[in-house]
Amino acid sequence: MTPESQPATLRQFPHLRTPDHLATPTRHTTPMADTEHGRIAREYFEVRILRQDGPGQASYWERHRVKYEPDMNVISALQKIAAHPVTIDGQPVTPVAWECNCLEEVCGACTMVINGHVRQACTALVDRLLEQRASEIELRPMTKFPVLRDLVVDRGRLFHALKKTISWVAVDGYYDRGPGPPQSQEEQEQLYPLSHCMTCGCCVEACPQYAYAEVTRLEGETDEAFAARQAATYDRLFVGAHAISQVVLFNSHPTGRHMSGVRLDALIAEGGIQACGNAQNCVAVCPQKIPLTTSIARAGRASTAHTLHKWFER
Ligand code: SF4
Ligand code: SF4
Ligand code: FES
Repeated sequence: MTPESQPATLRQFPHLRTPDHLATPTRHTTPMADTEHGRIAREYFEVRILRQDGPGQASYWERHRVKYEPDMNVISALQKIAAHPVTIDGQPVTPVAWECNCLEEVCGACTMVINGHVRQACTALVDRLLEQRASEIELRPMTKFPVLRDLVVDRGRLFHALKKTISWVAVDGYYDRGPGPPQSQEEQEQLYPLSHCMTCGCCVEACPQYAYAEVTRLEGETDEAFAARQAATYDRLFVGAHAISQVVLFNSHPTGRHMSGVRLDALIAEGGIQACGNAQNCVAVCPQKIPLTTSIARAGRASTAHTLHKWFER
């Protein structure tokens, strides 16, 4: 892929590698009609954004007109809106807030609902979106998390689920302990895809069992009391497919599996794997193509065996 064929935002960060799947099939030097590929000549396009000025405030739609350039992504469209924050009716407004970081679908920070589909804004190409819906591009924040501002949501519950399920390999020091236990090639190939999870939230956004939850601070409540109440609430709710899949990853790890019982305890507790209705929406929307339903099936079998083991141990 040549630098010229990268999306506009990525061209500003030449040190970043652009995934091959971002390559656009056709190069345009000017926004002219491309009848062969069905593209429409345009100088501008419209972006409709569901905005919210702060937590708990009412949301409202706002339209912006953005100057078209070939090979833009949604982040570069948002950058243009930020550089000239004026609505389609000529009203000056505050710049729209959004998050991004890696710009190559690795960090998950830019996840939002674009034309009705949850996905990453950095890999959502404007040309392709306008082919699907020529009139406008619609942006809204994810619906399962509290909105902090505009397109920025609080994804803390996703990370809390990783803490609840101890989704890491615990080490008690940084001294050299020699090489770790080996893993077979077959095991590596099975587990490597699970390590691609970027905690983006797409799987839980699409999951019918994952309900919106927001804990608001009570008057006079301390930081510690608020954090404890929030954690207790999140603990009762469904952990989500991403966390279940991470349990499979770390319980299969030769060093991490010594804590498999603790992780399975978290999966059989309230809000654990039994809350999954097997609708399989999660696997359909995961941008990393993680085999989530396979993970859920493996975690389900392990949880049943763990429950029986505990029952006979009593
Ligand atoms: S499992 Fe897939 S969709 Fe879910 S958080 Fe991880 S990367 Fe995102
Ligand atoms: S399979 Fe389970 S985790 Fe995935 S969408 Fe369905 S209910 Fe949610
Ligand atoms: S900016 Fe990291 S996934 Fe989009």
